[in-house]
Amino acid sequence: MKILGISFGRKNQRCDIMVKEALKEAEKAGAEVEFFNTMTMNITHCHACDYCSRMRDKGEVEIRCAFKDDYQKLEEAYYDCDGVIIAAPVYAVGIVGQFKNFLDRLCPSHDRAALIEENKKREKEGRPLLDERYFKDRYSAYISVGGAQTHNWVALGLPMLHLFDFSLCMKCVGHVDAFDQGRTGSPLLDQSLMQKCGDLGRAVAESIGKPYDLVDTWVGDDDGVCPVCHNKLLSFNGTTRVECPVCGIWGDMSIEGDKVKVKWSMAERSRARNTIKGIYEHYNEIQNMITVCVPKLTANKGMLDERIKEYKDYNPKWETEEALVY
Ligand SMILES: Cc1cc2nc3c(=O)[nH]c(=O)nc-3n(C[C@H](O)[C@H](O)[C@H](O)COP(=O)(O)O)c2cc1C
Repeated sequence: MKILGISFGRKNQRCDIMVKEALKEAEKAGAEVEFFNTMTMNITHCHACDYCSRMRDKGEVEIRCAFKDDYQKLEEAYYDCDGVIIAAPVYAVGIVGQFKNFLDRLCPSHDRAALIEENKKREKEGRPLLDERYFKDRYSAYISVGGAQTHNWVALGLPMLHLFDFSLCMKCVGHVDAFDQGRTGSPLLDQSLMQKCGDLGRAVAESIGKPYDLVDTWVGDDDGVCPVCHNKLLSFNGTTRVECPVCGIWGDMSIEGDKVKVKWSMAERSRARNTIKGIYEHYNEIQNMITVCVPKLTANKGMLDERIKEYKDYNPKWETEEALVY
């Protein structure tokens, strides 16, 4: 049983300490653990070049990114793991961009529904199947780390970390919202915070090997509203029907005095973005897009080529004042 710990924070600072605490407990629970700090790693962003999708469509066994940088080290470690624990700092209310770069390059290109459908085609045609590590069920846990005293300055931290679960169909067993680090000084001065991080590590280790429907564990902070991701966000559409923007599931909200309650049906829970059902909804949405869009583009090709030229040639620039040029 292998658990991968990744810190997107500074070396030997808060994210490192907290994720290492989780790994130490996971190790005690029998896991083989590996740790990465990404601070000096070069992980560029996805350039939407479609190289990964073409590898899949061409029948390759492995799906790789065209860009060769430090991403490959993390990617390989992820394929080998059975569980992942990520700690990342909040920058400007959301998670640091390097985490999103990693997610964008790994997750959509390994979308479980698209890969299952690809393997079905290959099986029928007797072609080699995709790397079986892409289909492993894995457990996750997240630690969002912020300096601010108030939660409103870390509001998108945990919700952004949970985006890592979806395409890969991972099940999260807990999270910790470690804000107020500016006053705490060091997580080592907060025993209960360290305890929660350790609990995350143990929960991931103890969940590995069990089928998702037999794991109902949740550890760490539990003050959220969504029964799946346990985050605190809701999207409104002007009615009492509300949506968890992280999981994409709907609930019915009611208010009693100053208390808000949301009822989430089992049917909705079962279509959260990180489930097979949820990921297929998006896969089908994309397939439908293709059938609508391609005939439109084909029918309008001449006119579009002409109009696009107009935008290609339009590149306005500020007039730079001499004095500002260094
Ligand atoms: C560019 C930048 C933006 C930041 N923005 C926020 C923020 O919006 N909210 C917050 O709570 N902390 C913010 N912080 C503080 C970091 O989250 C905090 O220092 C954290 O401990 C960093 O993790 P590390 O110690 O593991 O490196 C910011 C730090 C930097 C460098």
